[in-house]
Amino acid sequence: MRYDPMNPTTLDLFADAELEQRPRRDQIGEQSYVLRGFALPWLERVLPALQTVLAAAPFRQMVTPGGFTMSVALSSCGTLGWTTDPRGYRYTHHDPQTGQPWPTMPEVFFELAQAAARAAGFADFVPDSCLINRYIPGAKMSLHQDKDEKSYAAPIVSVSLGLPAMFLFGGFERSEKSQRVPLLHGDIVVWGGVDRLRFHGVLPIKEGQHPRMGEQRINFTFRTAG
Ligand code: SIN
Ligand code: FE2
Repeated sequence: MRYDPMNPTTLDLFADAELEQRPRRDQIGEQSYVLRGFALPWLERVLPALQTVLAAAPFRQMVTPGGFTMSVALSSCGTLGWTTDPRGYRYTHHDPQTGQPWPTMPEVFFELAQAAARAAGFADFVPDSCLINRYIPGAKMSLHQDKDEKSYAAPIVSVSLGLPAMFLFGGFERSEKSQRVPLLHGDIVVWGGVDRLRFHGVLPIKEGQHPRMGEQRINFTFRTAG
């Protein structure tokens, strides 16, 4: 039976409602996607778990090998945590501030990252690291590649919470022009495969108050590091 838009059947109406509810997936590269609002249904479980992680490993500002203090404050959970100091960028098993192992990655973080990777075409993503970035208004992330991981086989899964951000998604050279991708609370960007080493960054966060998260943007970056 042909679908007649002027005379929809009950079944067609259900199909339309389902289409509207299905989260939008925007393709920004050959193997790169923005999953709009993907994290929203998970947040009731994610936010309390985040508080537990931060109680054990509070946000702190780190210094780059070039001697600059990053405007973004960092924490981590998982077997490996990304750190930077004047000696270089690397992953460590321990939080250099407390000397303790990084907090265990909460189950719900792992499940969310895996579900997002799958929705972007990457089956069986097994992240062992979740970098937690905190941006206050004015904080930014300069264009960079994620290159400190042992292998580039696994994708990057990047979750945005709180204040909006303008994500820059570039090419394989720093000088290449970047796409500007607006990111909102609950959006997830996934890039991997042929796009795994694309340059990316975040423009300075604008002043604002997010009803749920306050005056900040929090980003989780899930990776297979080891
Ligand atoms: C990063 O690349 O480390 C962070 C990206 C983001 O905050 O969206
Ligand atoms: Fe990155």
